[in-house]
Amino acid sequence: MRRDTALPAPPPAHRHDWQTVKTLLPYLLQWRGRILLALACLIGAKLANVAVPLIFKDIVDGFAPANPVQAVLVVPLALIAAYGVLRFGVSLFTELRELLFTRITQRAVRTIALQVFEHLHALSLRFHLERQTGGLTRDIERGTRAIGTLISYTIFSVLPTLVEVVLVLGILAARYEPSFVLIASGTLIVYITYTIVLSNWRVHLRREVNELDSAANTRAVDSLLNFETVKYFNNEGWEKARYDQQMLKWEAAQVKSQVSLSWLNLGQAAIIAVGVTLMMWRAAVGVANGTMTVGDIVLVNAFLIQLYIPLNFLGVLYREIRQSLIDIERMFVLLNQNLEIQDAPDARTLAPGPCAVSFGNVSFAYEARRPILHDVSFEIPAGHTLAVVGQSGSGKSTLARLLFRFYDVNAGTIRINGQDIRQLTQASLRAAIGIVPQDTVLFNDTLAYNIQYGRPTASLDEVREAARAAHLDAFIERLPDGYETRVGERGLKLSGGEKQRVAIARTLLKNPPILIFDEATSALDSQTEKSIQAELDQVARGRTTLIIAHRLSTVMNADEILVLDQGRIVERGTHRALLEQAGAYAKMWLLQQQEDSSPAAKTV
Ligand SMILES: Nc1ncnc2c1ncn2[C@@H]1O[C@H](COP(=O)(O)OP(=O)(O)OP(=O)(O)O)[C@@H](O)[C@H]1O
Ligand SMILES: [Mg+2]
Repeated sequence: MRRDTALPAPPPAHRHDWQTVKTLLPYLLQWRGRILLALACLIGAKLANVAVPLIFKDIVDGFAPANPVQAVLVVPLALIAAYGVLRFGVSLFTELRELLFTRITQRAVRTIALQVFEHLHALSLRFHLERQTGGLTRDIERGTRAIGTLISYTIFSVLPTLVEVVLVLGILAARYEPSFVLIASGTLIVYITYTIVLSNWRVHLRREVNELDSAANTRAVDSLLNFETVKYFNNEGWEKARYDQQMLKWEAAQVKSQVSLSWLNLGQAAIIAVGVTLMMWRAAVGVANGTMTVGDIVLVNAFLIQLYIPLNFLGVLYREIRQSLIDIERMFVLLNQNLEIQDAPDARTLAPGPCAVSFGNVSFAYEARRPILHDVSFEIPAGHTLAVVGQSGSGKSTLARLLFRFYDVNAGTIRINGQDIRQLTQASLRAAIGIVPQDTVLFNDTLAYNIQYGRPTASLDEVREAARAAHLDAFIERLPDGYETRVGERGLKLSGGEKQRVAIARTLLKNPPILIFDEATSALDSQTEKSIQAELDQVARGRTTLIIAHRLSTVMNADEILVLDQGRIVERGTHRALLEQAGAYAKMWLLQQQEDSSPAAKTV
């Protein structure tokens, strides 16, 4: 059964917003000085902003008939100049604040993105086999973007609005009768409560939209990754229908989310309209009674509009902040994914030099319900070659994965030079092992890059030497772009045999004391296989080598051959000894000899 979400589980309910903020805070608090300075700018901008209507009121009152002479001459000019300076001051402080904060925000985004990336590489193969690439990349993309949104919205919008609300309420309280402050704060409280209640209700709708969005992206990416398979089976229509199925759900969720947003906006507008009307009514009454001037009406109106604009955004802000918290939380869930394979606290590094490998009574299951290996024991003395043969699915490649410690064994131990590999650092263990895997996947880059990947510090000459040893040189020389030829997504522009030889070349370049060849030559024609085999034998000399193969002719020189059947070793010995036993190995050998000499095989 396929799972459609990218992650094993949606964000668990116990991870609250506050926790998300707490995880985020340390990334920001490294910049205390800068933050304080930015906050000072913020308060400066707000003071200037509130002062503008105050001056404007004085200008208006200056023209009022009560004080005619002064009005025309001195006061207005000074006031008008102050008015201009203050207006500019608002912008100046705002920009300064923005500049001061950019580095903090972007550095936090970068640090966290890097941490997630590093963590993803540290997660187990099991996680990566279960993940869905499309959904995963969406989660990271949304999460990092949300950090920027969250910071700029809280610090650049919510905080300034709060400062402004406090200032305005203070001025209203100081200057006018209490009803103004009562109406203004009453409206605010109703407004904020309404916004929060409704937005909380909308959060699950947003979450649904997000999950459907990731799921749709997962489907699209998976489908495109399988481009060839889709064509082989003429299944474009089917793929389209599957994608659309997902997009249909997404569309419905989006519409639902939009409807709820409209309700939110309408309600907010109604609350503000009531508040503003009440205030203007009080102001009109005041002017009629002679307790307020025309300038006061202008001032109250200006304050209301000034408050109204950011308040109008409060809904959006609240929503965006919640949204960002959800997105960030989803990304942090990735960071909280436990590492299945970890270095032991007292892990040692594997000393360089020859390595002896031993499996002692190893049992293993990928999933508890289905055991794969049963009580497997063998030794490969340093510099020796062990071959494993057996039917498909008998667990051969699993041996290689366990030695590489992609998984830990369920019982028994794997040792290198007598040390349990769980007591070694993963880095030193893996540095000692070179694998030519059964299926080679390449980076979408040049041939040179892919070969050099075996040892990024290798010189171009060494790359050429490795390519020569893997019998790639003749092929590469025939290419118009030579080593600079791009290999396409996952290396699909190369033939199976070419890919396999790139894998061999980069393993040779890595030059490790332990080699694993998992069907390393299975994709090659007999002639190329023979010549590469000679090369590999040469390379394997003096190294500890594990060869996994179907074609028995490639393993007959091994020091010991194991025959694996459904996860159990059923026969073991040298080629000669196994033939003499006349058991499963001898039977396989006979069968392959017949195939090789039959006329049908010759024409192939
Ligand atoms: N990640 C996994 N999760 C669950 N089961 C797995 C996983 N990988 C492999 N298996 C199962 O483990 C068994 C052994 O797999 P393995 O790859 O070791 O076989 P093999 O002997 O190398 O076969 P082949 O010759 O076809 O390469 C198979 O039956 C396979 O279905
Ligand atoms: Mg295999």
